[in-house]
Amino acid sequence: MVKWHKSAVPTTLPPLVALAPMAGVTDIPVRAQVKVFGGRYCVSEMVASEQLARDRIDMVRRAAGSGVISPLVIQLAGREARWMAEGARIAEDAGADVIDINMGCPSKSVTSGLCGSALMRDPETALRLIEATVTATARPVTLKMRLGWDHASLNAADIAKRAEDAGVRMITVHGRTRQQFYAGSADWSAIAPIVEAVRIPVIANGDIASADDARRALALSGAAGVMIGRAAQGRPWLPGAIEHALLHGGDATPPPRERLLASLLALYDDTLAFYPERLGVRVARKHIAWTIDAVLGSSAREARKAICMLDDPTRVRAGLHALFGDAPDHPTTRSRTSDDGCANPVDARRAGAYSIAHASAHRPRHAPANP
Ligand SMILES: Cc1cc2nc3c(=O)[nH]c(=O)nc-3n(C[C@H](O)[C@H](O)[C@H](O)COP(=O)(O)O)c2cc1C
Repeated sequence: MVKWHKSAVPTTLPPLVALAPMAGVTDIPVRAQVKVFGGRYCVSEMVASEQLARDRIDMVRRAAGSGVISPLVIQLAGREARWMAEGARIAEDAGADVIDINMGCPSKSVTSGLCGSALMRDPETALRLIEATVTATARPVTLKMRLGWDHASLNAADIAKRAEDAGVRMITVHGRTRQQFYAGSADWSAIAPIVEAVRIPVIANGDIASADDARRALALSGAAGVMIGRAAQGRPWLPGAIEHALLHGGDATPPPRERLLASLLALYDDTLAFYPERLGVRVARKHIAWTIDAVLGSSAREARKAICMLDDPTRVRAGLHALFGDAPDHPTTRSRTSDDGCANPVDARRAGAYSIAHASAHRPRHAPANP
């Protein structure tokens, strides 16, 4: 867990390896599994502050997690200071330990409303939102952004400095501009000027999928940690394993297959319990597909398709047992550095034993009785 010094600087030794906020991905069930495998810092899906304040059910669901995920890092998005302030108050009330501000999302639906990375085009508005958020909550406020809107306006260092002066305690930078969306490669060395511009920790993000990627990103940027996004889809063990590898050397090695299966089954049950029925089935299919791809590769395409068409949970579980039990070892699941194939500091046998079944007991005050 990140410790916040009295100097307002979190300790990030060993380098922090965080799970990135991903809308539609990093819900409570996913973050619970990432934590089981030793991931110590997981950011929620983006929560639209105005919709949260208006009690919209999907945003209320995204802001839950108190007593289940610790630290509880809730990411807010918005374009008006008053809603960011209200969102921060609600998130704090719901148990948030840290509030992150989204200034990195490139999605047109987000940027057309002047939030996400569009704020980098309007630093004055961005600063007003940051100040309103910092003022509204006693919790540490962090910021996530890109290098700038485009290569003609690389203003991340400037905004970072102003954000630090406004009280922001940590900044994550995705090494692309907004106009790049996800094209090309993340430029980790372009994060270095931001690290130099501020005294607070800067976390490097973009295209980090292995311990070696993390080492290169840290070396090129000078950042205090890294944040892992897409590479963790279907690989909840990855952030914890990368952090372990940074500390002890070697690669980020996946746990044995039975532990991956136990984790997937727990994620499946938790996802069905967390969402209304049809939605839960759809969300769970996404994770099943990613996990099968990550563990078994393309050889399991047909089986993946068949399992993802099933509705009956008993048949889904049976299909997964059969698939994971029968398939030959995929090369990427073999341990190269540890005897038992589990490189994580956390006892990964607990994977699957963890359940969010009691999450509803920790609902924020706006949460519905049956989300
Ligand atoms: C499906 C998806 C959803 C995302 N949602 C968010 C979000 O809610 N908030 C945010 O700040 N960034 C969001 N991002 C961006 C990621 O946090 C991250 O910055 C980006 O994917 C680059 O990191 P990666 O190369 O490790 O994936 C999202 C990315 C993806 C792929």
